[in-house]
Amino acid sequence: MNLLVVGGAGYVGSVVAARLLEAGHAVTVADSLLTGHRDAVPPEARFVAADLSDAAALGDLLRAGFDAVLHFAALSIVPESVAQPARYYRANVGGTLNLLDAMRAAGVTRLVFSSTASVYGEPDAIPIAEHAPTRPTSPYGASKLAADHAIGFECAAVGLGAVSLRYFNVAGAYGPYGERHDPETHLVPLLLEAALRDAEADPVRIYGRDYPTPDGTAVRDYIHVRDLADAHLLALEATTEPGHRVYNLGNGRGFSVQEVVEAARTVTGRAIPAVDAPRRPGDPPVLVASSELIRRELGWAPETPELEAIVADAWAWLGARSGQPA
Ligand SMILES: NC(=O)c1ccc[n+]([C@@H]2O[C@H](COP(=O)([O-])OP(=O)(O)OC[C@H]3O[C@@H](n4cnc5c(N)ncnc54)[C@H](O)[C@@H]3O)[C@@H](O)[C@H]2O)c1
Repeated sequence: MNLLVVGGAGYVGSVVAARLLEAGHAVTVADSLLTGHRDAVPPEARFVAADLSDAAALGDLLRAGFDAVLHFAALSIVPESVAQPARYYRANVGGTLNLLDAMRAAGVTRLVFSSTASVYGEPDAIPIAEHAPTRPTSPYGASKLAADHAIGFECAAVGLGAVSLRYFNVAGAYGPYGERHDPETHLVPLLLEAALRDAEADPVRIYGRDYPTPDGTAVRDYIHVRDLADAHLLALEATTEPGHRVYNLGNGRGFSVQEVVEAARTVTGRAIPAVDAPRRPGDPPVLVASSELIRRELGWAPETPELEAIVADAWAWLGARSGQPA
């Protein structure tokens, strides 16, 4: 297929673009490079510098003729969204609406969208299933939920076939493609960067040691970025049918922050200093996905659910980038 990957210069988008190319698809990456990197675009992909805020440019781009669109482009730092809600709504909702308009005008009827576990907010029950109430606690989560809703209504209006994938915590790396956020807010890369610089002076913070969990630290669900990417290939096949499908994507297994710290210490063989810090507002004790629906309906299954294997792949990638042995 001839595919447009919007946001394909970012972490998840670059891995998906690589997997799509390996599966024999033609890939065009459109990205503003706001948080992405030109050298994260696989060399076999065509690259177009484009911003979702530019509706006219999007219209021109879509008219080139694509079979489907995969949409990863977003602002995604939760605390930043709390400080700048309008900016997040404009980028994540407005950008998605511009894309939907351009797809409608060009007659492109298949879409895979990066949604997030943040749409659920603080859950009533674990594991979290797709029918759980959506009560986002940040403008980031709310803006992604609004985009999900717009996609659903667009499906009903024009017969679009769309899949929203609600990722839990993505980690790991795939070949030359890994996680490069600035600032980095995700636990696994923060730990590995600390291991690389042996950061006595700047220890990693563990937010909350008094949660009602076995070791008192928060529990999260980590999914390997390659397993996540492969779910996109399955989702793409499912977009042949009109309508909106929503699937959670996680391991279905929780790991505590303390367990992730220990896994990073084991994988790196380095001390990785960490200190306790107060809980952050809005951080629930446990967030674990039920991915039963995508397993059942699309036959997805993670190949690398083990935490240490996920961390090891991220560490190997970081070592290759930094020139230090990992
Ligand atoms: N990484 C995670 O753990 C995680 C978890 C849940 C959901 N998500 C979602 O997955 C998607 C990808 O996340 P990521 O971690 O790869 O982020 P990322 O920041 O690495 O990638 C986002 C890409 O989109 C591009 N972009 C941003 N705004 C744009 C715009 N207006 N026009 C064109 N390009 C634009 C950026 O330059 C970047 O290349 C996001 O939509 C995010 O909300 C990620």
